[in-house]
Amino acid sequence: MIHIVVVGILVIIMAILTYVGANSVGLMPVQASAQAVPIDWMWGWQVVAISFLFALIVVPIFYSLIVFRRKKGDTSDAEHIEGNTPLEITWTVIPLIIVVAFAYMGAYSLGESRRITDPNAMIIKVTARQFSWTFEYPEYGFVSNELHLPVWKQVVLKMEAVDVIHSFWVPEFRVKQDVVPGRVTEYRITPNLVGSYKVRCAELCGSNHADMEGAVIISTQADYDTWVAEQVELAAAATPEGRGKKLITANGCIGCHSVTPQPGVSAPSWFGLFGSQVLLADGSTVTADDAYITESILDPAAKEVEGYSPTIMKPFTLTPDEIADILAYIKSLK
Ligand code: CUA
Repeated sequence: MIHIVVVGILVIIMAILTYVGANSVGLMPVQASAQAVPIDWMWGWQVVAISFLFALIVVPIFYSLIVFRRKKGDTSDAEHIEGNTPLEITWTVIPLIIVVAFAYMGAYSLGESRRITDPNAMIIKVTARQFSWTFEYPEYGFVSNELHLPVWKQVVLKMEAVDVIHSFWVPEFRVKQDVVPGRVTEYRITPNLVGSYKVRCAELCGSNHADMEGAVIISTQADYDTWVAEQVELAAAATPEGRGKKLITANGCIGCHSVTPQPGVSAPSWFGLFGSQVLLADGSTVTADDAYITESILDPAAKEVEGYSPTIMKPFTLTPDEIADILAYIKSLK
């Protein structure tokens, strides 16, 4: 009986030491999502159970090794024990209760992590491929290889793989979700801590699986808005209209012309110009098509517009590609 009491006390001490030790080494990274709270709650109880079970196994083993060691000169057989029904019932029923309790806690925390749903959550499309992630922001029409999210705004990732199965995993968010070819899987998260994190692929997907990482940046709403504005501008600059808009600024065109319905400082507006009928100084009209606008750039005096005659515009030397971009921009002004 004395042995049971001693072992019992030692088990409790060992369990406490293990629990404190396990918690002090920082087993989990920081918590960066609202969904992490119920998951960490369950994890906390698992560490309690793990610490206790570890002590329950390790302490009796070492206690037996030391205390019940065969004495020198003792050659007798050990006592023969044939089963112990109460003990067997105990060590079946208690673990059963613990397993059922954890099954319930698991279902509860999974439910809790999914119950936090905002109908106005932001939607981002995620594409996984060997071996990278891309994030499309349909609201703004740009694609990035970094996932930027504003803090405290729920986001739903609609994820699809183009080749094999991958798995979206940001340890700080706790939630993990497979990304499967031919199927859209959802991942809902409410980031709650500003910082830089990393998405890793958590499904072995090929030779460079370990390198399949991407930056995840949680920022304040203001910083996020700045980033979105930059991305929108970059995306726009990559189109013919975007390049055309840059060209008219670089060449000083908008010093005189305007791009709104208001006439420019000393030149006609380009707003709604393309395809319209332009009245010329000699009383005739011309359709503002590609040929007319191109001619007016290269030789402004060829057809002088009524009200702006004699023209003060000098001829501009631009390449056919540059003119095509400017035409694309002018066509977009309507
Ligand atoms: Cu993608 Cu591993």
